[in-house]
Amino acid sequence: MKILVTGGLGFIGSHTVVELQNKGFEVVIVDNCSNSSESVLDGITKISGKKPLFEKLDLREKEKVSSFFKKYQDIAGVIHFAASKAVGESVEKPLLYYENNIGTLVYILQELSKKQKASFIFSSSCTVYGQADKMPITEDAPVKVAESPYGNTKQMGEEIIADTCKVTPELSAIALRYFNPMGSHPSAEIGELPIGVPQNLVPFITQTGIGMRKELSVFGDDYPTPDGTCIRDYIYVVDLAKAHVVALERLLAGKNKENYEVFNVGTGKGSSVLEAIHSFEKVSGKKLNYKIVDRRPGDITSAYADTTKANTVLGWKSEYTLDDAMKSAWVWEQKIRD
Ligand code: WQD
Repeated sequence: MKILVTGGLGFIGSHTVVELQNKGFEVVIVDNCSNSSESVLDGITKISGKKPLFEKLDLREKEKVSSFFKKYQDIAGVIHFAASKAVGESVEKPLLYYENNIGTLVYILQELSKKQKASFIFSSSCTVYGQADKMPITEDAPVKVAESPYGNTKQMGEEIIADTCKVTPELSAIALRYFNPMGSHPSAEIGELPIGVPQNLVPFITQTGIGMRKELSVFGDDYPTPDGTCIRDYIYVVDLAKAHVVALERLLAGKNKENYEVFNVGTGKGSSVLEAIHSFEKVSGKKLNYKIVDRRPGDITSAYADTTKANTVLGWKSEYTLDDAMKSAWVWEQKIRD
């Protein structure tokens, strides 16, 4: 029984491959290396002692997707990470995002629909909630109008899967709505590799800490929060990776209540931008150079998860604290700059 991990050389994908292999799954990675490198395979192999199968493939090529599924007929489950994820870029290049994130999803679901039984895990995002009216955010909070084509692809992706599951009882799917993933594997063999100037907070913090960036801009300190900076739910990437394995096991064992389910994946704890900075200063013993600047357009004030459903129904819970995750991000940053 093989598990296909699309985008398995990426940040969350590579950590998930490690956790799958640790649990004894045989993994086939498909990646087009557009935002990743084949060298990640070495890191995965070092950690788990096993080299996953790898096919360099662009999932936008429908014929190749078909041929892939003909070659690997024993694929029992798919964890679909392959997608573009930069919010700003999606505004500039909407069609690229719809092709990458929606086109590829449709091709994979078409292949899975031909099978007698298939399990599918989808990378969704807390971005579907927009600025939720109530904190913490439960899975039944309304989906708000997407702020960007990227966000829209996650909403549409969920709808496409839900519609497909309604008419395909052989297919079971879970959408995992991630909050803010961060950190790196404790071994420092794999981790986050942002290309160019990082858009996300944690890699910007660690790159500032190591001296690659002069200072971190904190986007606004006049939000209605205790210290005025925005609040997010930072989830350690290894915890997040484990959520995928638990979700997959649920589907493979037929323990799911419906053939399409949705779970939040976060810690349940909100942290402000200043708290994230202080966490970095604590674990690194370094003072971080930062200044307060204007708000970033499109940012929401606060988002953190109600994890009750994931804890009780899925049987998954985050284990690591913000400090643990920040420490791993810092160890990784020092290693890759060395
Ligand atoms: C976090 C906080 C910024 C950079 C991302 C994705 C989104 C979803 C969740 C995936 C915010 C502040 C940041 C900086 C700062 N994920 N910040 N200075 O905005 O929550 O969203 O994760 O689907 O789609 O975009 O994450 O890391 O960009 O920002 O002050 O240089 O850090 O304002 O409050 P965000 P982020």
